[in-house]
Amino acid sequence: MPTLNLAPASVADYRRLAEARLPRFLFDYLDGGAYAEVTLARNVRDFERLELHQRILRDVSARSTAVTLFGSELTLPLALSPVGLSGMMARRGEAAARKVAGAFGVPYCLSTLSVCSVEETAAAGSGPLWFQLYMLRDRGACADLIGRAKAAGVSVLVLTVDLPVVGTRYRDVRNTMSGGGNAWARLRRGLISYALHPGWALDVGLGGKPHVLGNIAPYVKGAATPADFSAWANASIDPSISWADLAWIRAQWSGPLVIKGILSPEDGVEAVKAGADGIVVSNHGGRQLDGVASTISMLPRIAEKVSGQTRLLVDGGVRSGQDILKAVALGADAAMIGRPWVYALAGAGEAGLLNQLKALQGEFSVSMALTGTLCVKDVNASVLFGPPLASN
Ligand code: GLV
Repeated sequence: MPTLNLAPASVADYRRLAEARLPRFLFDYLDGGAYAEVTLARNVRDFERLELHQRILRDVSARSTAVTLFGSELTLPLALSPVGLSGMMARRGEAAARKVAGAFGVPYCLSTLSVCSVEETAAAGSGPLWFQLYMLRDRGACADLIGRAKAAGVSVLVLTVDLPVVGTRYRDVRNTMSGGGNAWARLRRGLISYALHPGWALDVGLGGKPHVLGNIAPYVKGAATPADFSAWANASIDPSISWADLAWIRAQWSGPLVIKGILSPEDGVEAVKAGADGIVVSNHGGRQLDGVASTISMLPRIAEKVSGQTRLLVDGGVRSGQDILKAVALGADAAMIGRPWVYALAGAGEAGLLNQLKALQGEFSVSMALTGTLCVKDVNASVLFGPPLASN
């Protein structure tokens, strides 16, 4: 008899639920990566290739998964990565994610390109709220956004630097999510999606309105809708951003500043020199430059250069509590998940996301026990068997 599949257990299960519920073009935007999706697959596979080191008879009865990061006590060394358009995947998705993450005890990082504004998101819950910023050509809008984030109670500013231009995502091109296709193609996309996904259409498509890009709407002439996202990103994100601009950001923001999108040890060193309080080793979830190394394979090389000088985070390919343990073992203060939390929220609502976070904590705790560790600060390369593998 096949497995009953009455309740989701893994990230892959939540992914299936999200795939069934979401209109195809939204699922593909979330699930897909750049070009042939080589890096997207590599991120996941390189976590899988790392072997954990099973240890025995070490009295693992008293364990703690808690950590402190940027002044906040966290349940688990984990944060929710910013994901654009989450409010199209689930009803007022960003506010819902912030509520659940806060209740569970991990930070939620709101994307610049969100449906819910930073004000709506902040009001939806408690706990650490981070804000992800793209450097906009319009510096006035950028400064205003930072001011709004500060006023809303955001504790950490996360500057994404690996998207000065948007990588081509073939799935989005085919679905006309990248601005291509004619009006008839886009109408068909809408009609087919609504008809085939009535649960989403009623709950999110109709019930989750307004569908404007809440953070940037005040700075855009006409409606800033999710359909305009790609055109808006290409027209508004500043490709001229350079290290020199960090001083400008610093002048607007005195709190912890994290630079997201570091994949080279040299850039890690530069980020420390520029005064970054944290860096996120990231290739944008394989959505930007296809063909680059996986994040987990670059993490130890970057950690070697910057460890102890800045807080180190990593995202891309984290799909289980074991993966979080592997990330910490290779030098991360915390791991971040993007697609997994959106799969859970889109596929199974707030309860689904809470269950997923609890499951990740359970897996992390069991993996600590079976590798003979009791607290997060004792997790190091000894929980891995053999040297870290190079990405290929
Ligand atoms: C935006 O950040 C995207 O990756 O689509």
